[in-house]
Amino acid sequence: MATSSSSNKNNKTSSKITNIAVLASGKGTNLQSIIDKIESGYLDAKIAIVISDKADAIALERAKKHKIAAMFLDSKKATSREEYDKTVVKHLEKYKVDVVVLAGFMRLLSKYFVEKYKNRLINIHPSLLPSFPGIHGYEDAWEYGVKVSGCTVHFVDEGCDTGPIILQKFNPIKDDDTFESFKERGLKIEHEALPEALKLFCEGRLKVEGRKVRIL
Ligand code: GRF
Repeated sequence: MATSSSSNKNNKTSSKITNIAVLASGKGTNLQSIIDKIESGYLDAKIAIVISDKADAIALERAKKHKIAAMFLDSKKATSREEYDKTVVKHLEKYKVDVVVLAGFMRLLSKYFVEKYKNRLINIHPSLLPSFPGIHGYEDAWEYGVKVSGCTVHFVDEGCDTGPIILQKFNPIKDDDTFESFKERGLKIEHEALPEALKLFCEGRLKVEGRKVRIL
C-alpha cells in the first residue's frame, strides 16, 4: 500500500444505508454472521448481493433463504483473472455496492479489482496476521503449535493477506483442545470480529493511514 490517508466516511454514494456485497466460496458461516447482525439491528446495513465462484456454495443457499440476491459466476467462462473480476465488478456496480467483503472467497483478486475497491474491500483471515497467511490458516497455526491464535479483519491490498489491519481477536489454545475444538471456537470469534469491523466501516469510523487503520 502507498502512503495514502483516507477515511471511508465519504465513500457511500449517498446518506443511505450501506450496501454490502459478500463474496464467498464455501459454507458461508461468516456471511450468516453478517445476516444475523443486520437482522438483530446491530449492523445498520444491507447485503445487496452475494456472489460465489462455486455453484454449490452453501453461502448462496443462505443468501436465498434470506431473500438476498445470490449469484454464481463461473470462473471457467473467463479467459483471465481480470476478465472474471470485471464481470464481478459489473454486478457490484449494478447493485451500487459500497463495500465488498471476502468471506471465504477462495480466489485471488486482480490488481484491477483491488484498485477499484481500495479501502472498501475487507477480508477475514483465520489467524493473527502476519502469521500464517494463505488458505490454511487454522491448520498452519495448529501444526506450528502456537499458544495463541485468532483472526484478522483487514483491508485488502495486492498482496496475499497483507493489507492494513482493522482488528484482530485472540483465540488462546487450551491444553485439551483438539484441532476441531480450536477451529470451532475460532469460527465463533470470526463471527464476532467481521460484523464488528463492518459496523465500524458503516459508521465511517475507519481511517486508513498507510499501513495503519485508525478507529475514529
Ligand atoms: C473462514 O475461516 C475465513 O476466515 C476464511 O475462510 C473461512 C470461511 O468460512 N477466509 P465460512 O465459509 O464463512 O464458513
